Amino acid sequence: MLADLLPAGVATAEALADPRSAVLYPEEEELIRDSVAKRREEFTTVRWCARRAMAELGLPPAPVLPGHRGAPRWAPSVVGSLTHCAGYRGAALARSAAYASIGIDAEPNQPLPEGILDSIALPAEGRWVRRLLAERPETRWDRLLFSLKEAVYKTWFPYVGRELDFGDALVTVDPDGGGFAAQILLPAGARLATDPREFHGRWLAEGGLLLSAIALESTTLPAAAPRGAGTTTRTAVRTAV
Ligand SMILES: CC(C)(COP(=O)(O)OP(=O)(O)OC[C@H]1O[C@@H](n2cnc3c(N)ncnc32)[C@H](O)[C@@H]1OP(=O)(O)O)[C@@H](O)C(=O)NCCC(=O)NCCS
Repeated sequence: MLADLLPAGVATAEALADPRSAVLYPEEEELIRDSVAKRREEFTTVRWCARRAMAELGLPPAPVLPGHRGAPRWAPSVVGSLTHCAGYRGAALARSAAYASIGIDAEPNQPLPEGILDSIALPAEGRWVRRLLAERPETRWDRLLFSLKEAVYKTWFPYVGRELDFGDALVTVDPDGGGFAAQILLPAGARLATDPREFHGRWLAEGGLLLSAIALESTTLPAAAPRGAGTTTRTAVRTAV
């Protein structure tokens, strides 16, 4: 499913169950030593997926440890994203020479809990969500909006190194073609010239799941920013505001 959403050059791997053969590196094991079974399973299987994607890119297997604010840390030549929800784990990795960042998200095709839509949706987003829920209730457009915003965040954060709130991205969706776009709305004082201004991705609803994916191509960015620019960028913004 994930491979259908991402362009050539992005290696994907997914699992609908937790294979017994999945094992962790000692430093990964250490991180979830005291975690409940559900967390251990998703953590282990998604890393098994990541190592399959590494192999597809011709890379040796390596531990996947959390970095700043939980974002996965990759080798400098790699960008990638992980996601897990009940019944699904997925990983997408690419060479950083071709892609600046990847963001993927999986959610159950189930309604958001009461009250959550209003806290994540801009007014224009709330309107298309409610219209599509009335017209095509087989897809939970409220949950899809949440997933699209998570995919935006997971693409944004590792590249930029700064937080992005739900109200900072205006998402539009193509309900037929499976595409979506997100326009970054940060005011001038809170953004830098090198920040991505918009994201384009794909989504699908299948097998009780909603999947969202973005591959940010280096060539589409407003200006070249070195990877790991997050620290510098955060400092610059703190100084600017
Ligand atoms: C971090 C966050 C995006 C994770 O999403 P989620 O739907 O809860 O969980 P998923 O299973 O899809 O993804 C979990 C994986 O995301 C990755 N992740 C965690 N923090 C991350 C970050 N700051 N940046 C990128 N990826 C991150 C990790 O690999 C994690 O898996 P792991 O803990 O096993 O390593 C979410 O919890 C969050 O903080 N969201 C708030 C910010 C936001 O979405 N803003 C919207 C802007 S429009």
